[in-house]
Amino acid sequence: MKILILHGPNLNLLGKREPENYGTKTLQEINTLLAALAGELKIETEIHQSNSETFIVEKIQASLDNFDGILINPAAYTHTSIAIRDAITAVYRPCVEVHLSNIHAREEFRHTSLIAPVCIGQVSGFGHNSYLLGLRALVEYIKEEK
Ligand code: DQA
Repeated sequence: MKILILHGPNLNLLGKREPENYGTKTLQEINTLLAALAGELKIETEIHQSNSETFIVEKIQASLDNFDGILINPAAYTHTSIAIRDAITAVYRPCVEVHLSNIHAREEFRHTSLIAPVCIGQVSGFGHNSYLLGLRALVEYIKEEK
């Protein structure tokens, strides 16, 4: 099983960026935890971070023939990107949306996700554990689907 993991804009600054909202772990540290979990679950992953909506859309499109599912923190694009939503719909791959912070407990504009309705689920508010919980949930979903 192969999972595409995507981190959206400004997540390259994790560790330094608003630790009260996003915790103190760097993106590299989160990716190391994801790689360890992937080993435990005996799956393969490919991980990318980008500040560009175009890059994220292109990676999702390319998942069509190569990946069984997508784990994504779309970051600010969660609240704005019809293009990312349409790309997820277009590739017919199960997708889980994750957020470090609880987007529903923050500013009102963060309460709406354009991405969540085309995902199998959303994990929000558990810090770096949102990624780990989301990856476990996605892998279980795909196993049950097969
Ligand atoms: C975020 C929440 C978004 O609202 C925000 O724009 C981010 C990070 C999170 O992981 O909590 O950049 O996706």
